[in-house]
Amino acid sequence: MSRSAVLCGLGSWLPPRCVTNDELAEELDTSDAWIRSRTGIGQRHVADASMATSDLAVEAGARALKSAQIGSVDAVILATATPDRLCPATAPGVTARLGLGRVPAFDVAAVCTGFLYALATAAGLIAAGTADRVLVIGADTFSRILDPADRSTRAIFGDGAGAAVLRAGQRHEPGALGAVQLGSDGSDEDLIRIPSGGSRDPFRAATAHEADPYFRMAGRAVFRRAVECMAESSRRALAGSGWAVGDVDRVVSHQANLRIMHALADQLVLDRERCAIHLDRVGNTSAASVPLALADAVAGGTVRPGHRLLLTAFGGGLTWGACTLRWPEVEPV
Ligand code: UT7
Repeated sequence: MSRSAVLCGLGSWLPPRCVTNDELAEELDTSDAWIRSRTGIGQRHVADASMATSDLAVEAGARALKSAQIGSVDAVILATATPDRLCPATAPGVTARLGLGRVPAFDVAAVCTGFLYALATAAGLIAAGTADRVLVIGADTFSRILDPADRSTRAIFGDGAGAAVLRAGQRHEPGALGAVQLGSDGSDEDLIRIPSGGSRDPFRAATAHEADPYFRMAGRAVFRRAVECMAESSRRALAGSGWAVGDVDRVVSHQANLRIMHALADQLVLDRERCAIHLDRVGNTSAASVPLALADAVAGGTVRPGHRLLLTAFGGGLTWGACTLRWPEVEPV
């Protein structure tokens, strides 16, 4: 019988400092009313200057291992768009700090879809027999890459980390990942990007002109693509799992904008009440968004063992993905 990846641990961590919409409005031309009505966000967490993405990742990773009640894994995958440094990857350092030894560790770069790409990669390692247990972490500190003067991105993004442990198991067990569907469209890569600092426009060369080290997003166009791509990806993941839309108890989608989540539910012809909502308290935490929303929904009792879940995300690249999962008896830490 073929091996499947089964979720057996879930952890989350948010930096303690919280920034409300009113606090943002003290320094930017925005308001609590605008941010709430256009995005559904009420506040976001921001990491202290002393913290980097790896620090958040270690916190969430340790909690996921505790939730799974294990002390070792065969591989660690970290999804992030805000690595500690451009080189090397952040995952090996996180692995060492977690005391996980000399196992393979690498980063996955798919921005807000990163956690789903990392889950799919972990599932592949498990199916191939390369690993029996994999720690998958989604962690981002977008506060470090936002333009302090850009109200459209400052209003949305927050920092955080979420993690899951996958183990080898059987296809019909609770927690087994169902069909995983991923996609990308690089022809629209400019819709979400950091213009300078990479090999295309290294800071050294950029001194000749104006370097732009900040995250830029064409909000409206991204909004449209997010709804369209998550809906299409979700339909494919449901079809691959043999589920009808009506079988889904909860949609745990990337928490980018409440209007996007509602539009996605409408497109799928699914009751909006079935959307897990976490962004009101944390904003868009990029690669951490799906595991954080999942942990919040389980802790709050809106996701319970046996529930049929649809996970879906969309991000820079452009990238997107979806997968199904029947929630197991797992307590998030
Ligand atoms: O995580 C990856 C995926 N990301 C997303 O899915 C995000 C998708 N995009 C969005 O969520 C929305 O496009 C935004 C929340 C970013 C912006 O909302 P919008 O309703 O699409 O507004 P807009 O960008 O079309 O801008 C409308 C107006 C503009 O003013 P003018 O040019 O009409 O005078 C913006 O400058 O709203 C203004 N605006 C703001 N006003 C007050 C943008 N941000 C703010 C703000 N406060 N924070």
